Amino acid sequence: METVDNKQVERRAFLDFSVVALLATFFGGVFYPIFRFLSPIKTRPGSMGEEKFSIPLADVPEGSAKLVRYKDLPTIIIHTEGLEVVALNAACTHLGCIVKWDDETGRLLCPCHGAVFDKFGQVKDGPAPKPLPPIDVKVEGNMIWLA
Ligand code: FES
Repeated sequence: METVDNKQVERRAFLDFSVVALLATFFGGVFYPIFRFLSPIKTRPGSMGEEKFSIPLADVPEGSAKLVRYKDLPTIIIHTEGLEVVALNAACTHLGCIVKWDDETGRLLCPCHGAVFDKFGQVKDGPAPKPLPPIDVKVEGNMIWLA
């Protein structure tokens, strides 16, 4: 008789634990995304989230590109061979992967699904539906400014 009571108590404790775990998982799954959505974004030190951003021209040699964060967005600055400087949002317009500069082809390649963009952000191949959005850039003296 006593073993039956122990089994019932164990079963009851297991059911109680299961219900609490299920409720915690449910409410955590519902409220955590809402909390994250409503909480303000913290800018990390050095995230360069400010309105203006500058970088020395020497940091982006001719024919190369540099990935920076501007207004807390991935931004790629390209120094073309004709001494022209271009800045583009580096998030692929397909599903948002960060594009990478390919020195050999002079193009931007998306590592996720193979989209290819030219140095002005125009789609040349792959599933990307739109060009990479341009960002205003100017060169003053030896500095590149994004604004
Ligand atoms: S995210 Fe770039 S091609 Fe899919």
